[in-house]
Amino acid sequence: MKDINPDIVKVLITPEAIAQRVIDMGNEVAHAYHESVPLLVGVLKGCSLFMADLIRNMNIALEMDYIAVLSYTEAQQQASGAVRIVKDLDSVIEGRDLLIIEGIVDTGMTIGYILRNLMARQPRSIRLCTLLDKPARRIVPVPIDFKGFEIPDHFVVGYGLDFLQRYRNLPYIGILKDEITGLARNKKNNHA
Ligand code: IMP
Ligand code: MG
Repeated sequence: MKDINPDIVKVLITPEAIAQRVIDMGNEVAHAYHESVPLLVGVLKGCSLFMADLIRNMNIALEMDYIAVLSYTEAQQQASGAVRIVKDLDSVIEGRDLLIIEGIVDTGMTIGYILRNLMARQPRSIRLCTLLDKPARRIVPVPIDFKGFEIPDHFVVGYGLDFLQRYRNLPYIGILKDEITGLARNKKNNHA
């Protein structure tokens, strides 16, 4: 692998491991939709790299759309509970089979809000596909139909995931140093 970014304390998932898992997920998801044309709904911006790779491993007819929400107060990276849509879907989804594509499910508040919001528009079905699942911090239970990796309670970046909009371009999933996130004190409390 190329040089590791100095802000990264540890590479959690290598580019090779991501690529292998995404191939398997693409096949699995495609199989689930061999009888309908699903609408893939990417949750921006964390989904971007994952979705681009996933669809290249889905050998079926599909359509794509995107939604963007704001869920965290940028400065603190803490769940506020307040979620709002900043970019809505272009498509009418009534009667469609939706597959939501997320980068990571943490507390579940963001995806919980998105699921409720989209459900109200009466699609035929909704399933959820996330690259990462961080179950330790779950507050809102969410049904995950397809999951790439379960990860421990660390703040991770790369492969689409950011900290203050940076690091999305890292080709691996890495744990960010505590001195960068400023979460060192909180973590001490949480894990005491
Ligand atoms: P939730 O609402 O707590 O499930 O958080 C979901 C959103 O928070 C994700 O879509 C990410 O944007 C962000 N997030 C949560 N955990 C992380 C992380 O470890 N790294 C980067 N972003 C995260
Ligand atoms: Mg983010």
